[in-house]
Amino acid sequence: MSFLPDIDRARVPEHVAIVMDGNGRWAQQRGLPRTEGHGAGEEALWDTVKGANEVGVRWLTVYAFSTENWKRPQPEVLYLMNFNRELLRRRRDELNDMNVRIRWIGRRDWRVPRSVLREMRTSEDLTRDNTGMTLTIAFNYGGRAEIVDAVKDLAHDVRTGVLKPEKVNEREIAKRLYHPDMPEPDLLIRTSGEERVSNFLLWEVAYSELWFTPVFWPDFTRETMFEAIRDFQKRTRRFGALREED
Ligand code: IPE
Ligand code: IPE
Ligand code: MG
Repeated sequence: MSFLPDIDRARVPEHVAIVMDGNGRWAQQRGLPRTEGHGAGEEALWDTVKGANEVGVRWLTVYAFSTENWKRPQPEVLYLMNFNRELLRRRRDELNDMNVRIRWIGRRDWRVPRSVLREMRTSEDLTRDNTGMTLTIAFNYGGRAEIVDAVKDLAHDVRTGVLKPEKVNEREIAKRLYHPDMPEPDLLIRTSGEERVSNFLLWEVAYSELWFTPVFWPDFTRETMFEAIRDFQKRTRRFGALREED
């Protein structure tokens, strides 16, 4: 267990979500092909998972492949498909030993190769009953796609009379997201100096605290995450209301 200075263990964010960005630029800076950057991101992810687990984060969600990333050159897309499948295959037993529950958010019925689908399912099944941290991998994920899928489901329920149109509200939409039991992120981290959401968890980040760092994802460590958590702990969340002392 590493030393965790200045982290208030009673106020650790329950859900941390991360846009793991900057792999390509990390590689380019070193004169390497972009794919080497994705490969180097594995260690960063691993260290982050262990650090999150250690500090008591209950939910960790990472953006691994967006619905827009299909626009990249085919060899890079292919690399990312294989890389994510192999990463799960390499790490799932260790994650299982850590009592981590692995989950997937994203479109399953669109474009994802069968071998990747299979691996995701195997990892989910293996770790389904684990009671430790939930690691959610956003893969073939788009925030708008998630909302569209929820609305389709809702439209179906309205058409079949399960739900009256006048009963449509935020709760009915939230209930139809990919994992309705997933709490909304308390803290959203993005690496690589880009300060945008890029279609990640659009519905869920309504009141998340945002934290940006210029560090490229392969250089990210648990210490970088702890820095974000310390900063999070200094903030006041109001959710549109006023604090009692205001
Ligand atoms: C993030 O790194 C990983 C994915 C989007 C899959 P990038 O590949 O976006 O790296 P940059 O942003 O081009 O440096
Ligand atoms: C977001 O990063 C997607 C992932 C990290 C998987 P991108 O690199 O795709 O986002 P943009 O294109 O810079 O907005
Ligand atoms: Mg990027």
